[in-house]
Order: sequence, then C-alpha cells, then structure tokens
Amino acid sequence: MSDWKKICPLTDIPQLGSRVVKSEKHGDIAIFRTSDDEVFAVHDKCPHKQGPLSQGIVHGKQVTCPLHSWKIELETGNAVAPDIGCTKPFAVKLEDGVVFLSV
Ligand code: FES
Repeated sequence: MSDWKKICPLTDIPQLGSRVVKSEKHGDIAIFRTSDDEVFAVHDKCPHKQGPLSQGIVHGKQVTCPLHSWKIELETGNAVAPDIGCTKPFAVKLEDGVVFLSV
C-alpha cells in the first residue's frame, strides 16, 4: 500500500524546475514540474557522478544534469542513450493542485 505524503501546492514548484524533499530513508528526492504541469520525482543524484539533478533544466519529460549534461528520463530515472545508468524514481501524484509523494 502506498503511503502518500503531502508535499506542497504545485505552484510552489517552478515550471521546468524542481523542489527537493529530504527523506530520512532515501536522502534527497527531487520533484520536477514540466511545462505541462506534470510532476515526477527521482533521487536527487545523477547516475553519472552524483550531480544534483534538482538543479538541472527540465525539457519535455527529461532533465539535463547540471554537471556534465547527461539527460535523465523523469518517468523511469534512466539515462538517455548513449549514457547508461539509472537513478531511483519515486511515485508522485497531483490532487486538486497539491503534490503528494510516496516514499
Ligand atoms: S554528474 Fe550528471 S552528468 Fe555527470
């Protein structure tokens, strides 16, 4: 069963940006907001060299890592080829304009 935690109103997350939530169990989790107001959450560590994905730029359903520009799929946490790696995705949902995270 999912344990949904209320995070913040969607409007607290900048479009094409993110907000970091600290989880005791999982460390920092970055919640991203796309241009279409979809939300995605992944571990805030790039699979390359642990760059802070939360400081990257969102485009489509991907974020570009601020350190060496790997592109990460926000739905799966997978790096876009030719790069190989994966950061952990987390379930996130939007209800009445409020973001909920399941950790
Ligand atoms: S740490 Fe993200 S691309 Fe290198």
